[in-house]
Amino acid sequence: MSTKLFIIAISVIGVALIAGVFVSLNRSATETTTPSTSTGRTDTVYTLEDVKIHDSKSSCWTIISGSVYDITSYIPRHPGGEEILRACGTDATSLFTMRRTSDGESVGSGSPHSPNAEEQLEKLKIGELAS
Ligand code: HEM
Repeated sequence: MSTKLFIIAISVIGVALIAGVFVSLNRSATETTTPSTSTGRTDTVYTLEDVKIHDSKSSCWTIISGSVYDITSYIPRHPGGEEILRACGTDATSLFTMRRTSDGESVGSGSPHSPNAEEQLEKLKIGELAS
């Protein structure tokens, strides 16, 4: 009788362990396929006024192609140095995509940022600009 109970107990523990492993594998698979961002709030909608407040090195938000980015943490890492500060509190679409001001003045090379730069930017997205 006690042997029978022992076998039942071992079977229950075994099934629980297999289920646990299955659930955790399934969970990590889901996490890797879900797009992740630094903040996870990419669906928040901001107005131009919201962005304009963050116009300094200590809090720098910008708009690029209709999306809003908090680029503050990237400033010290920017390969182009402090030119990035031109973007703070404004629509920097032309600055980022062309490295040109809205008047057509060339900033640095005056050529578009690389795909790597675009990848860095995407990680800093916090939302969309209100239409
Ligand atoms: C919007 C204002 C910005 C301006 C005016 C600006 C300007 C520059 C300049 C002058 C350079 C030096 C290379 C060259 O002259 O071609 C540079 C390089 C670079 N910037 Fe920016 N930048 C801006 C924003 C950003 C942002 C938001 C990111 C990424 C989050 C970024 C990522 C990079 C990278 C990775 C490089 C190295 C070259 C490349 O990959 O294109 N920049 N930037």
